Amino acid sequence: MSETVTKVEITTTGKVIQSPCGPIIHGLEDVLVKTTAISDIDGRKGILWYRGYNINDLAKYSNFEETAYLIFNGRLPTRTELESFKSMLAKERDLPDEVVSTIRVLAPRAHPMHVLEAAVAGLAAFDPDINDNSPEANFRKAVRLTAKLPSIIAAHYRFSRKLDYIRPKESLAHSANFLYMMFGQEPDSTSAKAIDLYLVLHIDHEVPASTFATLVSISTWTDLYSAIVSGIATLKGPLHGGANEAAMKQYLEIGSPEKARPYVEKLLGEGKRLMGVGHRVYKAYDPRAKIYKELVRELSQSKGNMTYYNIASEVEAVVLEKLASKGLYPNIDFWSGIAMYLLGIPYEYYTPIFAMSRVVGWSAHAMEYLNQHRLFRPRACYVGPHDVPYVPIEKR
Ligand code: CMC
Repeated sequence: MSETVTKVEITTTGKVIQSPCGPIIHGLEDVLVKTTAISDIDGRKGILWYRGYNINDLAKYSNFEETAYLIFNGRLPTRTELESFKSMLAKERDLPDEVVSTIRVLAPRAHPMHVLEAAVAGLAAFDPDINDNSPEANFRKAVRLTAKLPSIIAAHYRFSRKLDYIRPKESLAHSANFLYMMFGQEPDSTSAKAIDLYLVLHIDHEVPASTFATLVSISTWTDLYSAIVSGIATLKGPLHGGANEAAMKQYLEIGSPEKARPYVEKLLGEGKRLMGVGHRVYKAYDPRAKIYKELVRELSQSKGNMTYYNIASEVEAVVLEKLASKGLYPNIDFWSGIAMYLLGIPYEYYTPIFAMSRVVGWSAHAMEYLNQHRLFRPRACYVGPHDVPYVPIEKR
């Protein structure tokens, strides 16, 4: 078989692959796939805007519910609108018993990201708007998904530890309710703030792989639940949502601040990658990472454990010294895993919590794309043989 395949020379120049059919933009780097008014990134200067608002202002003054309203509606809510949106979210938090039972069965053996995919697909069966792709119905579905993702994650945490599912409390804010459903206690304000800020910082980020996967799905006119399952599945990879977990494991492996420099130098010397460093778009310090670094410092102080903040600070110093000239800086995952760790959240929940926030951005982009819809259907450059004679099995 192999002798019939023509060998084709494929060379890569930067982000372009020279193929026999013409240039291929490797990984679609810098290829524009849609217009958007949801978020914008200046990768050179390290600036992020949601709906025109600088992330620094939203991180300082806003919260998850208000920022979600902004992402969905394109403007900040009045007090009455915000109260009504919060109450809509709070009322939609609980899960159908059938979905709770599915999570109970799967949780002891399945990764929470796989359970998130399965539970979101399962929830589709209970949504009265499932086959309606109108903007109004998609907004209602997006609200339900945003409200229910934390409950799925908390249920997985409880069932995989042989604990009971805790029903949501409508009186609590989105982030505080999530920690309550995980641990069975209302969190202190610093812990709730750590989750809330994390959610604000992750709510949207233009078109990374998971948002693109959501767009490819919705471009076929599938339903929003299916498109969100694509987003979750794509977020799971360590080059995307999984890097916060990998970064935290690095700090644990380093163990103490004085071991950070030799560890990083050895790793880079072996041509390996530091997790939580580098970004396809940011060639400056990720603005989300700058904001979250400060929160991690405050949280570390309040928990009386500065070890991982200090280790990360040492790693950061080496990164700035050795990698910044190549446009490689700490990204949000460099710091966020430490906060999750200090909150007592096991590694496998770090990426699901990312999804809990990004579901807003995925849904908003899917709805926006339906207004400028065209089916995604790229081409591939075929480099195999044609017209190979079929040989019956007994003669092979
Ligand atoms: N550590 C060391 N070197 C790196 C790193 C890193 N983390 N990231 C990139 N490089 C080097 C890479 O080796 C290459 O060097 P050279 O030109 O000498 O071969 C150069 O930088 C360009 O790398 P690339 O893979 O072409 O860059 P990319 O745009 O495809 O990569 C990335 C982006 C995020 C996949 C990559 O930086 C990476 O693997 N980082 C670690 C994983 C990580 O932290 N991911 C979280 C991303 S932020 C969260 C999110 O938005 O999802």
